[in-house]
Amino acid sequence: MPPKFYIKTFGCQQNLADSERIASYYLARGFRKARSIKIASEIVINTCMVRQSAEDRVTGFVKNIAKGKARRRPKIVITGCMAGMVARDGSGKYLSVLRKRMPEVDEFLPFEEVGFDYPALRNDLTHAWVPISNGCNNFCTYCVVPFTRGREISRPFEDIISEVKELAEKGCRQVTLLGQNVNSYGSDLVKSSKHHYRLPDGRIVRPVMVKHLGRYRIPTLFPYLLEEVCKIDGINTIKFLSSNPWDFSNELIDVIAKNPKIDRNIHLPVQSGDDKILKKMNRWYAQKEYLALVKKIKSKIKNAQISTDIIVGFPTETNKQFQNTVQLAKKVGFAYAYISKYSPRPNTAAVKAFKDNIPYAEKEHRFHMLDQLINHKGNLRSVVH
Ligand code: 5AD
Ligand code: SF4
Repeated sequence: MPPKFYIKTFGCQQNLADSERIASYYLARGFRKARSIKIASEIVINTCMVRQSAEDRVTGFVKNIAKGKARRRPKIVITGCMAGMVARDGSGKYLSVLRKRMPEVDEFLPFEEVGFDYPALRNDLTHAWVPISNGCNNFCTYCVVPFTRGREISRPFEDIISEVKELAEKGCRQVTLLGQNVNSYGSDLVKSSKHHYRLPDGRIVRPVMVKHLGRYRIPTLFPYLLEEVCKIDGINTIKFLSSNPWDFSNELIDVIAKNPKIDRNIHLPVQSGDDKILKKMNRWYAQKEYLALVKKIKSKIKNAQISTDIIVGFPTETNKQFQNTVQLAKKVGFAYAYISKYSPRPNTAAVKAFKDNIPYAEKEHRFHMLDQLINHKGNLRSVVH
């Protein structure tokens, strides 16, 4: 009997997409998919580290498996963010922290060992996640992702197009293009400012000076990629996640405006509405610029809706600064928001520079204020401070 694997996925859509490739990596190694976790000989846990609570859920899950009454304990494999952090942390410190916390874990499998080369094993073809890049170069000071997934690597343009074409031929109608920062897609595909990038249709893209980076780089190829995906017959809805305001170019807005196949719900994480906090977060815009971008998007794209991510209780965030986020939310009228309470993350600039000085109860309070305002369209006056 061939060994059986079971994958449990925590975290974001990118992890869901990675799990589909990990599944086909296991099939290629002679495993079969277990219909239930109870009969698996190998349990692969695709982990998330974005907040402490996400790490705690992984630990709880591992403890539960180890407590199981199975005659032979299954092998426990950790992949995803935790394995990425272990692989990148040269000191070995994080590995020993994890070994102490979860001695039950048998192996750490960095996603890079699987990569984009294994085709995704998809259960359902009505909608498909299609990763277009992995990693992030932005180093927002609170965020662990550049340490877990590493620097941004863009998937080759042609590979993405042929995957979507194949999906369309199999009957898929909806795709979501995925990356930590989809709209910087392609900026790593040319290493030197002297070179250019040739698109599959022969058009040439030349490097430009990027103000916030202080160097030349290929402008994001994302608008070109989106345009190409729109041309694929059969695909009728295209979504993408996640964007950052500083790479949301006029070209991208024009491509969305021109192509009705592209979803009008645009996710545009703002994180904070206060300029000083945004600076401390290493986000490259101020409230005014974010609002100007939203205005431009809404004026050029009919029926555009904006959703967002917000962090409350970033170190040193005063109530007045939090009110700037409230004020921004009122001005934008977000369709919805994922709101998080700041959680100090290993290796990040914020954990090194600041004490996590906002009490939990205050974070909770700010969370509810925004949640009420944005997600329940509530009246703020009903929330008593
Ligand atoms: N604490 C709280 N929220 C965080 N996020 C990322 N890092 C942290 C952190 N250390 C949130 C951000 C990001 C989303 C994926 O998770 O809002 O956009
Ligand atoms: Fe994290 Fe910022 Fe990169 Fe998003 S853009 S993954 S928040 S570092």
